[in-house]
Amino acid sequence: MHFLSLLVPLGLSIQHVSAAGAPVFYLKLFPTSSTVFRDELISRMDNISRWSCTNEPGVTKHALVIPRGGGDNLTAYSIEQYDDDEALNKHLAADIVSTSLLKWSQDTPNIWAHNPTVQNFTVISGQSFVKPEFAKVADPYIVVEALTYMEGGVHHVIDHWEEEVDASRNESGTLAFGIYTDPGNKDKLWTLAAYESEDYLKNTHNKSPTARELEEHTSGMRTSMQRILLQKKGGFLYKGLTCA
Ligand SMILES: *[C@@H]1O[C@H](CO)[C@@H](O)[C@H](O)[C@H]1NC(C)=O
Ligand SMILES: *[C@@H]1O[C@H](CO)[C@@H](O)[C@H](O)[C@H]1NC(C)=O
Ligand SMILES: *[C@@H]1O[C@H](CO)[C@@H](O)[C@H](O)[C@H]1NC(C)=O
Ligand SMILES: *[C@@H]1O[C@H](CO)[C@@H](O)[C@H](O)[C@H]1NC(C)=O
Repeated sequence: MHFLSLLVPLGLSIQHVSAAGAPVFYLKLFPTSSTVFRDELISRMDNISRWSCTNEPGVTKHALVIPRGGGDNLTAYSIEQYDDDEALNKHLAADIVSTSLLKWSQDTPNIWAHNPTVQNFTVISGQSFVKPEFAKVADPYIVVEALTYMEGGVHHVIDHWEEEVDASRNESGTLAFGIYTDPGNKDKLWTLAAYESEDYLKNTHNKSPTARELEEHTSGMRTSMQRILLQKKGGFLYKGLTCA
């Protein structure tokens, strides 16, 4: 039905247990039943982000995004990253989350067209970045990709992807880039990227020697590729002295 392999129906307040001390990274999908509900959800979650930015050091990303282009006015996603389980559970237990999000969603009938779902990513140490310049771009062009490889293929492509992350750090218009493995599927990788514009992605990033080499060395092992183009509507992907 959707881009995500919809793993787990989202219990918004569920306690999470992952490898001790490991970061927790979620892409949550909220299929609302009306644009009014979608926009209210975004506004409530944006409000939580603002509070979280100053009060929760362990919350490192809490961004609200929607599909680009206006063709889908019902779906919202959140991109959330926590330093570890403790930071996540503390966030879920915060008063503002219960009152302005959980209670609202429980008390409002028919908010969802389908149950919200969540995909989690495994954060690979050193293989993602968000630059301070992200905060200066009014409408960053955000792209999430799901890539599936032949059995065992991730092992062969991962070095090429790591080179791509390193090369992307040097690209002035590549504001964020990260690769992640999928805890539920060893043959899958996820990427999260943000560019200063669509033009920069198409005409600079994709044309770099490293991107060409990556494609040349990995496309033969790839069995599927899905991409969602996203626009930020609230919250933050970058956390510095302020959040953006
Ligand atoms: C949402 O999209 C539907 C289908 O394209 C359209 O009929 C509707 O007017 C849109 N609603 C809003 C509030 O933009
Ligand atoms: C917005 O956040 C503040 C805390 O920063 C909270 O007191 C308020 O209830 C929130 N408003 C809504 C509508 O969730
Ligand atoms: C990135 O730039 C730095 C400094 O200019 C350079 O030393 C490094 O080799 C570059 N890395 C890549 C992967 O191009
Ligand atoms: C996330 O990944 C872990 C490890 O595979 C899994 O146990 C968990 O159910 C996943 N989903 C959520 C929502 O945490």
